[in-house]
Amino acid sequence: MHSAMAARNKVSVALLLLLCAGACVALARPSEFSIVGYSEEDLASHDKLMELFEKFVAKYRKAYSSFEEKLRRFEVFKDNLKHIDDENKRVTSYWLGLNEFADLTHDEFKAAYLGLAPARNDDDEDRSSAFRYEDVDMAGVPREVDWRKKGAVTEVKNQGQCGSCWAFSTVAAVEGINAIVTGNLTALSEQELIDCDTDGNNGCNGGLMDYAFSYIAANGGLHTEDSYPYLMEEGTCRRSPQGDDDEAAAVTISGYEDVPRNNEQALLKALAHQPVSVAIEASGRNFQFYSGGVFDGPCDTRLDHGVTAVGYGTAMRGHDYIIVKNSWGAQWGEKGYIRMRRGTGKHDGLCGLYKMASYPTKTA
Ligand SMILES: *[C@@H]1O[C@H](CO)[C@@H](O)[C@H](O)[C@H]1NC(C)=O
Repeated sequence: MHSAMAARNKVSVALLLLLCAGACVALARPSEFSIVGYSEEDLASHDKLMELFEKFVAKYRKAYSSFEEKLRRFEVFKDNLKHIDDENKRVTSYWLGLNEFADLTHDEFKAAYLGLAPARNDDDEDRSSAFRYEDVDMAGVPREVDWRKKGAVTEVKNQGQCGSCWAFSTVAAVEGINAIVTGNLTALSEQELIDCDTDGNNGCNGGLMDYAFSYIAANGGLHTEDSYPYLMEEGTCRRSPQGDDDEAAAVTISGYEDVPRNNEQALLKALAHQPVSVAIEASGRNFQFYSGGVFDGPCDTRLDHGVTAVGYGTAMRGHDYIIVKNSWGAQWGEKGYIRMRRGTGKHDGLCGLYKMASYPTKTA
């Protein structure tokens, strides 16, 4: 297990700050908005497309500055629609749908919601060595795990246009271990991390979950979401510098450990015991429009987004997956979640899922 100080000293060495894909609202339900239900002819009809666009504009309360801008957005929308339609014919285990990003070009999406992620320092030295689930027998690990069903996962949250995914990923893992150890599922504050954990982490401009775990362990825990609500921007730290004499910190952790890299079995062993923070590449166009099913790419492994694995299972046709909680609101994907294919034979996992997993530790 890392001591907080040791982790802090590595801040200057590690270069990666997850820049976080942000999003305000989210996806439409396939039944309502997907192009399923529209014929080829419909999709070639200007009137039908305009009708679909107007529905989209109303649903997401889009306000364009001028008529020209609206026309430009309509062109982008049509291009995205074509992409969604083409991909839905091509991919077999998942599907895409229209969402609030549908009037953004992919470059705009990446620029607005991802930013530039520095290349990850790919050596292994900054990974902690202890892994408490090392000796877990794979034969004893359940075939399926879903921490949502065991009351260890709070509602899906929405980071909005702020590169704070690292805080959401961290907090979901802490909420999970706290619920498992104490039986009390309480939503905790991302804003507190954004405002106060500024030594290594960078608020709306990105951060890293391990730094956040070490901050929480060293600073007496995190307050509740209710007492320290989300602002979607960087604010002033509202906790007292030395401990929390004014108001008891809600939830403490002892520290954190890293899951051995590029090791699916290790991740499953950890996931069988608690939700786990993971980093992925989420900047692909299909990730942007993911609507449901078992996602299997395309994506690369340049980590740019922090999320939380909350279980795993096997879908029809034997597609094994990891259940991932995102922070783009409950309308994106499968009620805010994405099932990501596992068992692909790719050692670093789909979208780099196995490269940077870690979890908080807590004793009863
Ligand atoms: C759960 O934890 C929260 C935060 O510490 C606390 O306010 C609440 O009273 C607890 N609930 C129970 C049932 O213990």
